[in-house]
Amino acid sequence: MSEGKRQRILIVEDQRFYIDVLVRLLRDEYELIIAKHAEEALRRLAEDAPPDLILLDILMPDMDGYELCRRIKKMPDLEAVPVIFLTVKRDVDDEIRGFQLGAVDYITKPMSPPIVKARVKTHLDLKRGRERLSRYNQELEERVRERTHEVTRTQDVAIFCLASLAETRDNETGNHIRRTQHYIRLLAEYLKDHPGFRHALSEGAIELLFKSAPLHDIGKVGVPDRILHKPAPLDAAEWEEMKRHTHYGREAIERAEETLGTTNFLHVAKEIAYTHHEKWDGGGYPRGLRGEEIPVAGRLMALADVYDALISKRVYKEPIPHPRAVEMILAERGRHFDPVVCDAFARLSDEFLAISLRYAD
Ligand SMILES: [Fe+2]
Repeated sequence: MSEGKRQRILIVEDQRFYIDVLVRLLRDEYELIIAKHAEEALRRLAEDAPPDLILLDILMPDMDGYELCRRIKKMPDLEAVPVIFLTVKRDVDDEIRGFQLGAVDYITKPMSPPIVKARVKTHLDLKRGRERLSRYNQELEERVRERTHEVTRTQDVAIFCLASLAETRDNETGNHIRRTQHYIRLLAEYLKDHPGFRHALSEGAIELLFKSAPLHDIGKVGVPDRILHKPAPLDAAEWEEMKRHTHYGREAIERAEETLGTTNFLHVAKEIAYTHHEKWDGGGYPRGLRGEEIPVAGRLMALADVYDALISKRVYKEPIPHPRAVEMILAERGRHFDPVVCDAFARLSDEFLAISLRYAD
């Protein structure tokens, strides 16, 4: 209810005398709804907006106050409305029963005017306080959501700018990072229930993979242009320098971790940057890791990266058609690529093609 409006009290009482007493005591401060029996109370509750408080006589013909209270507390709109029992009883068991049914208080008859006023006011104030707190919490949650969204957007943009910078230095195409990011998510979604991959591919982990994949070649900013842009095969020394982009990438992210503290995101980004050129048979770089020594993120990125390199035009080569690229990748099953990841790719190759067309250069 709004704060300025008079609070509404439903009085359920069958005896005229007590109704008159309550009306006299409360009518100046509150809006009163009178019901002379349980049926009438239920009808008013169904028709009107929920009251702020219910004063409920226990001894009534037909349905008594306990039963009515039980029904009220089952209604989702009304369960939070405080109920105060009006009773001549002074039996402790009866009081326990009332509290168990969800009542907040008792007023005994004959009624003492100051007690009636004080209890009604106390419980209405409490209810108003609860509502204010709940509104405040909702506002707070909403604000946190907005802020989180803003921070996440900023982070996404920063990552993308950074990755794009590395990318534009590397080759003239702009969409390699978009495509590889979608390939890796496709593979991860496919493999998330596989026993060998489950541990690394929770929903949150897949989101992190998707977000950090664009940074896989961030280390290329450290590789000289004459090597990056050489329109011919690299000689041995140049190739060694080119391979160092995995180190540069890892070091750049490590420096960020030293300054900012590590996060799951930075951890995955570092893993991808450092291990995406490792090969399943141990023939990759920089460390020559083998099989499952290579983190899942690196194994997925390896395939995504190679597929995209094959189907893309480079200064030194023409694009390879999709069917041929698929054959070439499958030929590397158990050599360059994890056999399970390769099998997943075989099943998903049409979707790889679709992604490559959606984000074509
Ligand atoms: Fe790379």
